[in-house]
Amino acid sequence: MSSRKLVFSGVQPTGNLHLGNYLGALKNFVSLQKNTECIYCVVDLHAITIFQKPNELQNNVLETVASFLATGLDPKKSTIFNQSSVSGHAELAWILNCVSRIGWLNRMTQFKDKAGSDKEKASVGLYIYPNLMAADILLYKATHVPVGADQKQHLELSRDIAQKFNNDFDCKDFFPLPEPLIAKNISRVMSLRDGTKKMSKSEESDYSRINLKDSPDEISKKIKKAKSDSSSIPDNLKDLEKKPEALNLINIFSEISKKSLEKTLIDMSGKEYSYLKTKLTELVINEITPVGKEIKKLLAEKAYLKNVLKKGKEKANIIAEENLKNIREKVGLI
Ligand code: AMP
Ligand code: TRP
Repeated sequence: MSSRKLVFSGVQPTGNLHLGNYLGALKNFVSLQKNTECIYCVVDLHAITIFQKPNELQNNVLETVASFLATGLDPKKSTIFNQSSVSGHAELAWILNCVSRIGWLNRMTQFKDKAGSDKEKASVGLYIYPNLMAADILLYKATHVPVGADQKQHLELSRDIAQKFNNDFDCKDFFPLPEPLIAKNISRVMSLRDGTKKMSKSEESDYSRINLKDSPDEISKKIKKAKSDSSSIPDNLKDLEKKPEALNLINIFSEISKKSLEKTLIDMSGKEYSYLKTKLTELVINEITPVGKEIKKLLAEKAYLKNVLKKGKEKANIIAEENLKNIREKVGLI
């Protein structure tokens, strides 16, 4: 096996990015680009598995690029582009639709969550979404994929698809089996209103999440209103784990302050949650508002953002076409 390392990840352009995307994915993207070849994709074809208004989708693609750049991704170091601009994603997805198994897709919990109670009404695209995700990764023969914990199952499916392709077409090691890179301490940032649900763009209440573009005032209000606990902060993790909303706030604090959870608990135990919330508000405002300001600034430079996408597309397409040529050959397509 070669030791070549290539990072790939995708983010859906479906609205405001939030603290969960930032801590669970984007910060990792930025640190990886220092030493590794990285490809970051705005996955617009994934977004349309649930209906998107066309003009909003276009704006959301640009906003996602602006968020990438504002958190520190450098288009000179990383390849940044949108999925639909490289047609190889859709072509490989079709081939992988024929490799992947219905039984495998039936186990995907994200489909069950997103389709809700009336699965018959979900789009076919939503059902085969994980096959397109496997195509994104395998099109570049990526070896490492930074994602939040919610994507772990999809990554496992991508590995199964890669392995089955390598077996079916008798080409051992053709596709590397992609490894997930999941942030150790903060792989799942939870909703501020319900500590058992992940923070999400699609949650109805804006009070459930901190958006990267929120003002200091909004951040402060949201943290003040966040669910916590009426007793004081415990001194051990076991007790804290019984209160998922409180655990989430302490986790976020620990991640941004770069202090371990144990050290944070030692510092905070016996104090009221209002104390934690004051400290957390300060930290989050310092971390997030410069990013939000930069996003807003970049959004005024649409031509620049489009140019970043165009250059990224050209770079991505070269790798994609080269790999696709070999893939078509393996499958027997002329
Ligand atoms: P999405 O916005 O669903 O395309 O997600 C983009 C990236 O952010 C993926 O790697 C997700 O796993 C990650 N992510 C989304 N929500 C959260 C969350 N609440 N906590 C941690 N990571 C998240
Ligand atoms: N499914 C991912 C999410 O919702 C987005 C995604 C699409 C992705 N293709 C990918 C992530 C490839 C990593 C690699 O967050």
